[in-house]
Amino acid sequence: MFTETFAEAWTLRSGEAPGFEVPEVARFLAHRSVRRFASREVSEETASALVAAAQSAATSSNLQLWSVVSVQDPARREEMARLCGDQAQIRHAGLFFAFLADHHRMRTVAQAAGEEALGLGYAEFYTMAVIDAALAAERMVCAAEALGLGVCYIGGLRNDAQGVKEFLRLPEGCFGVFGLCVGWPEEPVTAQIKPRLGQDAVWFREEYDPAPDATEYDARMAAFYKTEGMRGEATWSMRSGRRVGLGRMTGRETLKGWLEEQGFNLK
Ligand SMILES: Cc1cc2nc3c(=O)[nH]c(=O)nc-3n(C[C@H](O)[C@H](O)[C@H](O)COP(=O)(O)O)c2cc1C
Repeated sequence: MFTETFAEAWTLRSGEAPGFEVPEVARFLAHRSVRRFASREVSEETASALVAAAQSAATSSNLQLWSVVSVQDPARREEMARLCGDQAQIRHAGLFFAFLADHHRMRTVAQAAGEEALGLGYAEFYTMAVIDAALAAERMVCAAEALGLGVCYIGGLRNDAQGVKEFLRLPEGCFGVFGLCVGWPEEPVTAQIKPRLGQDAVWFREEYDPAPDATEYDARMAAFYKTEGMRGEATWSMRSGRRVGLGRMTGRETLKGWLEEQGFNLK
């Protein structure tokens, strides 16, 4: 369980003391990705409660355009890790969930009700399914963290969309958007609260301000990288600039064509 108070977590996140307290929000501010898990099992009841939390997220028009596949068999988990860029936390987490944007169920149900469901081919419904999957996952994350579990999202699930489709036997209209590792953190927890941009960089009043300045955040992140012993580019701008370049696409550059083959995002 992460133990920071609201003020402590806020300060680590933003570099400044808040000057006020909202203790109930402390656990949300204390999130950090956990990549080292204890070998302790997560019970079936807990897993079921986490899925119930995910299902309790808001969902556009109650369409519930998402699903989740858990992968628990050790040999299959190993293969899952390999498909996702060989990330060790996938092997060691108590639970692994692949979150799906799922048009298959809605298309099948709609067609059985005599509807053609042609809207599902539009970018709008692709967007809706990805939003639904993300909201469901994040609600699972909030529930997991409330229990003292740690989580790590896995965008590596998109490195090989076709491989994941075959591995999980996904029908057309299902897309593995990201994975989620959930487990008891290895003690002592080494993961730290990571600073974020200042509120004024993400929260605009009345109108967007199109002149971002990351100087202050770069300085805070440089200090964070140092305490974490991270090597490489010195600032967040430099690291992130590289991340959004073409050198780090890790197979995902083919995603658009693959999604179209699966009936997503055609119009
Ligand atoms: C959709 C998504 C995909 C991510 N994919 C990965 C991943 O494949 N591997 C990983 O170690 N972390 C992954 N992360 C975790 C981010 O790196 C992490 O959230 C970010 O650096 C902020 O750190 P924090 O979560 O500790 O605050 C992912 C996060 C999100 C939201």
